[in-house]
Amino acid sequence: MRISELETPAILIDLDIMDRNLKRVADYARANDLIVKPHTKTHKIPALARRQMELGAAGVTVAKVGEAEVMLEANPPELYVAYPVIGRSKIERLIAVARKTRVTVGLDSLFAARQLSDAARAAQVSLRILAEVDAGMGRVGVSPGEELISLGRQISNLPWLELQGITFYPGHIQTTGDEAFTTQLKELATLVQTITTDWKRAGLPLHIVSGGSTPTLFQSHQIRGMTEIRPGTYIFNDRNTWAIGACSYEDCAASILTTVVSTARPNQIIVDGGTKTFSSDRQAASSEVSFGYIIEAPEAVLSKMNEEHGYIDLRGRETALSVGDRIRIIPNHICAAMNLHEQVYGIRGSEVVETWRVAGRGKLQ
Ligand SMILES: Cc1ncc(COP(=O)(O)O)c(C=O)c1O
Repeated sequence: MRISELETPAILIDLDIMDRNLKRVADYARANDLIVKPHTKTHKIPALARRQMELGAAGVTVAKVGEAEVMLEANPPELYVAYPVIGRSKIERLIAVARKTRVTVGLDSLFAARQLSDAARAAQVSLRILAEVDAGMGRVGVSPGEELISLGRQISNLPWLELQGITFYPGHIQTTGDEAFTTQLKELATLVQTITTDWKRAGLPLHIVSGGSTPTLFQSHQIRGMTEIRPGTYIFNDRNTWAIGACSYEDCAASILTTVVSTARPNQIIVDGGTKTFSSDRQAASSEVSFGYIIEAPEAVLSKMNEEHGYIDLRGRETALSVGDRIRIIPNHICAAMNLHEQVYGIRGSEVVETWRVAGRGKLQ
């Protein structure tokens, strides 16, 4: 099928760019002795998880148990649930997953650890655990120092839990190449050194130090002691990854094909995708309100959205675009956009060569 035959709005994945993104990370990780467990929250498609593992990923990462269930289809030898799993029925589902593959869970409370330990004992299935430390994002994770060591000790005392080490997510680092980036990276490196030294001194097991993100991806070797990385967005990249300099325009594999449905109002065109197509994520590193980069008209701005309408402000310029024309827009945040679409299309040139169901979309539980 040709792209011109697709109904819109539709997410297009340029497979040559995607493969290049995956290979670059595989090569980098191999050269720097880092294990890759890509975060599949970006694509939510088992076939793409398989592709990541074909290129050397040791397993996959997910946030939610529902995503873990979906990713079993990719047969990952290891599955890291990088999110505290709380609540009995969820833990039962997690245990069912753990009967099929090796599961590791990140957590930051004794409450979460106890619940897992109780369920693991009842099911006679051991679970691998990483203690989550806050590396500066201020989201989840205990504070470095005594809190982390104490959590580690408590976990290691619980039956049926196998403490493997430490996990963190440097989501606070959202620039690249500038002074702030260098400083934040140095601080992170120092923090990880201190944490791992203290942890070992406390006699706690340290087989895994899990971290990584797309903005910090190619600087991961500077975080000495980190053993594995879990980048997610890197498979496609998006406008925000590009805006912060963590990739170039040429590395953006995903765009959303839309159709111009109205030019009735002056200085404006309307396309057939709004917040239910793109998500409402704002543009990073800019005060401009814009929800994507318009490939065919870079000077125009996707400045406003309703659920199904995207308002393109022509900024007073003439445009050759008319009703029925199709334009591709690189979304600000591809992970959130993927979650909104039932299927996406892999393209090479003007041909659609793959149609993937986004099997993990909406798997929030
Ligand atoms: C815990 C965790 N690990 C890894 C990632 C992947 O980050 P990125 O998409 O920047 O590669 C995320 C992203 O949200 C995350 O929350």
